[in-house]
Amino acid sequence: MNYSDSERLKTVLERIGYKETLSPNKADLIIMNSCSVRQHAEDRIFGFINEYEKIRKKNPQLKIGLTGCMVRKTSIQKDKEKDNLLSRIKHLDFVIRTEEMIKLPQIIGIKSSKKTNNFNTLESRELKNYFHINPKYESKFQAFVPISTGCDKFCAYCIVPYARGREKFRSKKEILEETRSLAKNGCKEITLVGQTVNSYPKFANLLKEIDKFHKFGLERVRFVSPYPPDTDDDLIDAMANLKTLMPYIHLPIQSGSNEILRRMNRKYTVEQYEKIIEKIRAKIPDCAISTDIIVGFCGETREQFMETYNLFKKIKWDMAYIAKYSPRPGTVAAKMLKDDVPAKEKSRRFHMLNKLLQKISLEKNKKFIGRTVRVLVENYNKGINTGRSEHFKIVKFKSSKSSVGKIIPVKITKAMEWLLWGQI
Ligand code: 5AD
Ligand code: SF4
Repeated sequence: MNYSDSERLKTVLERIGYKETLSPNKADLIIMNSCSVRQHAEDRIFGFINEYEKIRKKNPQLKIGLTGCMVRKTSIQKDKEKDNLLSRIKHLDFVIRTEEMIKLPQIIGIKSSKKTNNFNTLESRELKNYFHINPKYESKFQAFVPISTGCDKFCAYCIVPYARGREKFRSKKEILEETRSLAKNGCKEITLVGQTVNSYPKFANLLKEIDKFHKFGLERVRFVSPYPPDTDDDLIDAMANLKTLMPYIHLPIQSGSNEILRRMNRKYTVEQYEKIIEKIRAKIPDCAISTDIIVGFCGETREQFMETYNLFKKIKWDMAYIAKYSPRPGTVAAKMLKDDVPAKEKSRRFHMLNKLLQKISLEKNKKFIGRTVRVLVENYNKGINTGRSEHFKIVKFKSSKSSVGKIIPVKITKAMEWLLWGQI
């Protein structure tokens, strides 16, 4: 989502004459698009600010700003106190909320140039809804398309409903316009993005409509991240039947203990989650499945952690993004529950689960040896191409730079924990 927001931010900056530089030393303006989901992500931003402050010593004109989820509504209220980032981080020139990015020119003191006749009307539409800003896509063949922002689920540990606000959907018409135009311009893979992407009304129907753009050359559609209870039969059928839908789903479970799920305010049980997996595997037998897990949530006992561990052995996720719980100020868990699993114990659980993941992931990857997969090539470096297979596996193989952006059949010869090697 941040990546996609940055593509819109780029449009705003280019309109007022800024050009991208890859070196902070050359920059006149640095905007950090922050993530708040874990303390670690916020800490990194503070690290960057100190680094950029050193650059400002050499270039006093440099402006440094912050946007993204660290900038909450409370950060920019005049009555401050609560969460006034500007006073907490003295080196910042400005903070701006993501959805207000269109106001950036005023904030940095530049009047918008009226490059188009209808710039004013454009601007007011964009002010109402920042999704109306046309993004500057980083890649010609892959694109992230946000379909919603914000979240209404209020999981006890999660800052997103406070940082991004309540869930807002883009209109179907707008999403179809953007995806159609991407397909017509040579985009091969579209990833639909939303905090709970499948809460989108009639999500399977949206996928069906986008699937029709196969005729313009669109090959692959992915979506991230679905919320387990909203993963209905229509969605699973769409995944099984539509040409562009890939055999891969990221389905965050968070914990394998019903008691912890209840305290997390996740609205499902382990049994219900397993039922969804069963249905997916019945219709798409080799579907790759990944997940998110939090270890050391408030009050998680060793036994409850072992329930997660044993569930991992049973479900055998292809990949898992495992996080140690960190309290986010303002959330229900931070206010009401005690962060009582010691740091050392969180680390122990984290490493134990990662070790298991490594073993299972290798086991799963080995099944691809001898199979030919189709790789959308993303990079070329020193004779080696890297891309993703249908199952979202990273595949490396020898080829030329001209393969980048193409879908190439590759026969898998070697499996490692996090990637596959193959030959054309
Ligand atoms: N502490 C640790 N992990 C968290 N996540 C969200 N909030 C927290 C938190 N407070 C994880 C969840 C989510 C992923 C994006 O980040 O697993 O799915
Ligand atoms: Fe956060 Fe839960 Fe919403 Fe995901 S579903 S963004 S974890 S509140």
